[in-house]
Amino acid sequence: MKLVSQFTSFLKDTVNLNQTRIDLLESNVEAIRNFIRQCEWSPRVRGFEEQGSWAHDTIIKPVDGGEFDADLLVVVDPVDGWSAKDYVAKLGKAFADSSVYGSKAKTWDYCVTITYPGERKVDIAPLVRSRKYDGSLEVCNRAADRFDASEPVEFTAWLRERNALSGSNSFRKVTRLMKYLRDIKTTFTCPSVLLTTLLGMQIYWYDKGLCCKDWRQSEVGCRSAPIRRLLRNGG
Ligand SMILES: Nc1ncnc2c1ncn2[C@@H]1O[C@H](COP(=O)(O)OP(=O)(O)OP(=O)(O)O)[C@@H](O)[C@H]1O
Ligand SMILES: [Mg+2]
Repeated sequence: MKLVSQFTSFLKDTVNLNQTRIDLLESNVEAIRNFIRQCEWSPRVRGFEEQGSWAHDTIIKPVDGGEFDADLLVVVDPVDGWSAKDYVAKLGKAFADSSVYGSKAKTWDYCVTITYPGERKVDIAPLVRSRKYDGSLEVCNRAADRFDASEPVEFTAWLRERNALSGSNSFRKVTRLMKYLRDIKTTFTCPSVLLTTLLGMQIYWYDKGLCCKDWRQSEVGCRSAPIRRLLRNGG
């Protein structure tokens, strides 16, 4: 029995974050970008990169009034004489000193978090470009005062590619469902970034264009990707 419309409603009404809250997040992010461009923080800002579930369209409605967030990277040139902790700590100070954000800002190891009413948050992390070599990208660990290599642009591109291969936005829908299961059942924990990556790793280039009908109709009945994988791996 197919329950396509019920399933669509379940995703829409229970799992997905509603559009009003996404719109609010987006207007908060826009205001934060404008603030960063004109505040006292020294680094030259080269642009912004959207990250995390908000950017990857894997964000879900928080279960039991939990929080949800947008993750924003601010791409900057290196500053002479600054170590890793300076980028985060001084960005935190710029927000803390502001009349608009002072009471909403908290500085963590890698980012500054702005918290709005309704458990809505925006995380802003400095991403230093071309410090180690031309084109290198590094996030900054304030506690350890250490730069960490990062590939956020490639990661986003990889997730988009997985989603395109999966067809019908399936990768994003499955990721949202798995995150919902994790949060509603509370029988297992897994950081979202890891869960999303593990799911993305189950999708291969040869999954493109396949759907469940393919294996049912094929002579050998084994053309669906998971079944082919089981056979290939001897499982
Ligand atoms: N341990 C990590 N290593 C590398 N990158 C990380 C790590 N943790 C977070 N990130 C980066 O920060 C982004 C946001 O992480 P976050 O924990 O908010 O997950 P998310 O995918 O946004 O899910 P959620 O909906 O739970 O917020 C990730 O997409 C990833 O780019
Ligand atoms: Mg997030």
